[in-house]
Amino acid sequence: MGKKIVVLTGSPRKGGNSDRMADAFIAGAQGAGHTVAKIETAPLDVKGCRACDGCYRGGRACFFNDDFNGIAQEILEADAVVFATPLYWFSFPAQLKNVMDKFYAFVVGGKEFKGKECALLVCGGDAEETAFDGLLRSYGLIVEYLDWTDRGRLVVTGVNAKGEIDKTDAPGRAEALGAEF
Ligand SMILES: Cc1cc2nc3c(=O)[nH]c(=O)nc-3n(C[C@H](O)[C@H](O)[C@H](O)COP(=O)(O)O)c2cc1C
Repeated sequence: MGKKIVVLTGSPRKGGNSDRMADAFIAGAQGAGHTVAKIETAPLDVKGCRACDGCYRGGRACFFNDDFNGIAQEILEADAVVFATPLYWFSFPAQLKNVMDKFYAFVVGGKEFKGKECALLVCGGDAEETAFDGLLRSYGLIVEYLDWTDRGRLVVTGVNAKGEIDKTDAPGRAEALGAEF
């Protein structure tokens, strides 16, 4: 049976390197019969978590009514969450991180957020894979904390300019990962 997959993207560059990976993954997953929602976090107005613990009071996920509330239910109901992102300062871009920080609402709100599948598609300009250590460690700890099943991590080094990723095998690998889901 087809799964519901949410792809959270982190880059403000439409058609950029991680966006290309996201689209390739989506093509593979849709080809395999899954339903995929691509949520671009960069243009959303999602503020940082205020730690007010007002999650789900009054019915909505975040007490402060920003764009997170428009995507929360879709994330909650997904069978799988895939992160497609550039590396920013050895970590996740702030826009995507703000969305991830608000996953807190699901925990505080007592929602069933465990047991999902997930994957990571990440690219950066650095030629060294060690530059991705912080993000990968953070991703790994989140997966462990949430009892998610990691279906794959695609790490692409040495890409900067838009389209550079098309000179690598990453789009093909992202599509294959989507098809295997
Ligand atoms: C604000 C900012 C911070 C960045 N920080 C890093 C970094 O820490 N390490 C790295 O390898 N590349 C870094 N980069 C480069 C991007 O990760 C790289 O250009 C990537 O391919 C962009 O992907 P995109 O086309 O999906 O936006 C940074 C780029 C920006 C704009």
